[in-house]
Amino acid sequence: MAIKNIFQDPNIPQKFQINDLIIQDTYLINGELRKWTGETTTVSSVIYSKDNLGNLAPKVIGSIPNMQEENALEALDAAVSAYDKGRGEWPRMKVEGRINSIEKFVKMMAETRDEVVKLLMWEIGKNYDAATGEFDRTIEYIEDTIDDLKKMDREHSNLQKHSNVYAQVRRGPLGVVLCMGPYNYPLNETFCLLIPALICGNTTVFKPAKLGILLLSPLLKAFQECFPKGVVNLIYGSGRTLATPIMKTGKVDVLALIGNSKSANALQGFHPKQNRLRLVLGLEAKNPAIVLSNCNIDIAVSECVAGAFSYNGQRCTAVKIIFVHKDIVEEFNKKFAIKVSELKYGLPWENGVSLTPLPEPSKPEYIQELIDDATSKGAKIINENGGERVESFVFPAVLYPTDTSMRVFHEEQFGPVVPITSYDDINEPLDYISDSNYGQQVSLFSNDANALAPLIDMLVNQVCRVNINSKCQRGPDVFPFVGRKDSAVSTLSVHDAIRSFSIRTLVAFKGTESNKEVLDELLDNKQSNFVSTHYIL
Ligand code: G3H
Repeated sequence: MAIKNIFQDPNIPQKFQINDLIIQDTYLINGELRKWTGETTTVSSVIYSKDNLGNLAPKVIGSIPNMQEENALEALDAAVSAYDKGRGEWPRMKVEGRINSIEKFVKMMAETRDEVVKLLMWEIGKNYDAATGEFDRTIEYIEDTIDDLKKMDREHSNLQKHSNVYAQVRRGPLGVVLCMGPYNYPLNETFCLLIPALICGNTTVFKPAKLGILLLSPLLKAFQECFPKGVVNLIYGSGRTLATPIMKTGKVDVLALIGNSKSANALQGFHPKQNRLRLVLGLEAKNPAIVLSNCNIDIAVSECVAGAFSYNGQRCTAVKIIFVHKDIVEEFNKKFAIKVSELKYGLPWENGVSLTPLPEPSKPEYIQELIDDATSKGAKIINENGGERVESFVFPAVLYPTDTSMRVFHEEQFGPVVPITSYDDINEPLDYISDSNYGQQVSLFSNDANALAPLIDMLVNQVCRVNINSKCQRGPDVFPFVGRKDSAVSTLSVHDAIRSFSIRTLVAFKGTESNKEVLDELLDNKQSNFVSTHYIL
């Protein structure tokens, strides 16, 4: 039986309805919410509804400014002036002062929860639980960042002495950060860059992801009210039009981007002084699951289904290829196909729904191309309804057997299709990982510690997280999130992001009598924000 059309006669609960268009006609530059009078871009939902002629079409929900190069450069100038070569109010401010601003911001942000969650559902099709999860996780991330920075500051509020030199070592900001997040976590992953960048004293130009943009509208006022002018500048438009000229100026000190390695390479390449540019990048991945013959198959199946198809496979951490030992592949495939067919599909607000429409307009065709390529080379779709499509919704396809000749074996699908391959020799999946351009995570399924031990010891040198009997994932956010090769540059986590967006800098005094007097006076008169033994509680 074919899948139902989830867009026909939808039952949208009142609190999730969008009755008026959301016209985002202001943008934030230099502390001013300026009115945009230029060209605009229509924002369409991932959800289809009937148009005036009764045909299904993506529902139009609003518009955003289509800003141009001169606007981007104006935003950059505002951030450069606010940093003022490190002499600006924000970079020189005591850590405590910056924490106060972020605390005020997080309070105002909490009040926008319902609106932001609703827009996460309409703009990118995230289901209600995942959308609320993204919002709450972001608030928690900000609060944990504040706590971590306080702790770090306490550790730095003393003087060290070595070889008759006194030093106070702290972390200082880097300068101007160009910050761009991804569409799959347009709030969480963008803020996991932006907030640590800000709290460390950097100033920012922030360009939202290509999708999931209107959900920032409820937060614009908070950005304006909580930070000094020029510290946060928010611009709307295409990455190519806005980010390229910004990078070409050479005035960006940190490129913070979660996206793909091609854009990251291009943007770095535009910077005329590349050694001055720090990179904080979260990029693609092709995380494999390796299912050993001595595993608990039910656990392996449910973790691999969740790993491959949570948020329709649109996670950088998704399980994107599954290697199953030949002795158990038949049983694994059978159980896997059943489990996938039990996933509930529908619109994001429906109870218990896990599969939802895809926000990228070209994604359904791309998934179909991968399926066609694999099936033309001998793979079969082994699950009921696999690959069936209704408008922007595609039911997940599980492909088996797959091999190295197929595109889906190598390309990061970032969507609802997964290849399964069987192996006899463990070197097959190990070679796949070492030959891959990516090096983020792996999932290993086995109950045999003797089998796991050598694999763990080899794989920790190929990827940056080895998950035992569980899917790949970023959280908990206190753990390092990082990757090798084309998967990442710099480490993110509550603690590591603070390090990524700052640099160690110190003030040193030779221990002479006259210097000791100067140092005593500096500490007593509390005039310096840096040389200070003040302790944040
Ligand atoms: O898209 C990549 C995200 O960082 C994945 O995060 O593992 O929590 O879904 P997650």
